[in-house]
Amino acid sequence: MSARKLGKSGLKVSRYILGSMNFGWLVNEENSMKILDAAIEAGITTIDTADIYSKWGDGSYPGKSEEIIGKWLKDRGVRDDIVLATKVRGNMSDKPNDVGLSRKHILEGAKRSLVRLNTEYIDLYWNHWPDYDTPQEETLRAYTKLVDDGAVHYIGASNHTAAELMESLWVSDRNGLVRYDAIQPPYSLARRRDYEKLLQPVVEKYGFGVTSYSPLGGGFLTGKYSEEKMPDSKRAETTKTRYFKERNFRIVETLNEVAQANGVSIPQLALAWVLTRETITAPIIGVNSVEQLNENIEALEINIPETDLNRLNEVSDWTEMDMLAR
Ligand SMILES: NC(=O)c1ccc[n+]([C@@H]2O[C@H](COP(=O)([O-])OP(=O)(O)OC[C@H]3O[C@@H](n4cnc5c(N)ncnc54)[C@H](OP(=O)(O)O)[C@@H]3O)[C@@H](O)[C@H]2O)c1
Repeated sequence: MSARKLGKSGLKVSRYILGSMNFGWLVNEENSMKILDAAIEAGITTIDTADIYSKWGDGSYPGKSEEIIGKWLKDRGVRDDIVLATKVRGNMSDKPNDVGLSRKHILEGAKRSLVRLNTEYIDLYWNHWPDYDTPQEETLRAYTKLVDDGAVHYIGASNHTAAELMESLWVSDRNGLVRYDAIQPPYSLARRRDYEKLLQPVVEKYGFGVTSYSPLGGGFLTGKYSEEKMPDSKRAETTKTRYFKERNFRIVETLNEVAQANGVSIPQLALAWVLTRETITAPIIGVNSVEQLNENIEALEINIPETDLNRLNEVSDWTEMDMLAR
């Protein structure tokens, strides 16, 4: 699998990044390890997790996904071959300082993630989402300490607006602090506007890497959702709330026609479309089984014919909708 440079940094990430939000939630420990083995076998070298994954599972808790990855890293002895990314920001407990991007929570949070992950360093440490209670300077100073100490190598900002990213660059520059090298927004055929309208110009001008998430819209862009039938998935209700719109069903219809014409599956085509987007360094894929992983890996080989690509671009185009909203 090819590797790509993360923004202006020298770090290389694999063309697909393996997400682990499902570990300990939709996927038990044994199967999570099988997915990790199959991913590395297929050439994926970059793994995305978060301290809070996956606290919403029955019998699960925050830190469970990191623990599974930590066990796997130790058992397989592959730490140096992996680019390991984790996040901080979400509530780890109800205690007032067990959340957010304060110096206290970041420094303590990193220490605990390192223990769970069985490692001495995090390659890429993310703000999971913004914290409006903490000044950006405090957050960036805490990250600078972690980088100076060698506990963290690069930092990124997930779910931030273009304005917040611009402010972060200014704060880093003015104070001689580390800067975010990457962003992590949601991005798929069903969710283009949030990234393309305001974030993409900032990415192009200031050289951020982009490791986007939910390339299949949480499973919606696989063809298994319709008004009549819902898949047997614990994510189904959330996916329905987020994606059940007439426009998105039109996108799935087009995906279905194009996929059939090209002899590929709907999820493969939806992933192949993300891979055509130049500013997306690497999508983070989420799977529940080795079978889903293998199916998704095959999408790396798909070349979408130009006319079909135009059809997909047109059906998912948001600019007209945006004009109408003016
Ligand atoms: N920064 C953030 O705030 C944030 C937020 C969300 C996710 N993430 C990261 O991004 C990763 C991926 O996000 P995501 O899970 O939302 O990605 P996604 O690709 O949009 O959805 C993945 C889901 O789609 C279904 N699926 C995947 N491949 C399939 C296939 N070949 N056939 C049929 N169904 C398939 C599976 O769900 P079912 O089988 O249950 O339908 C799977 O859990 C996460 O693991 C996490 O690391 C980050």
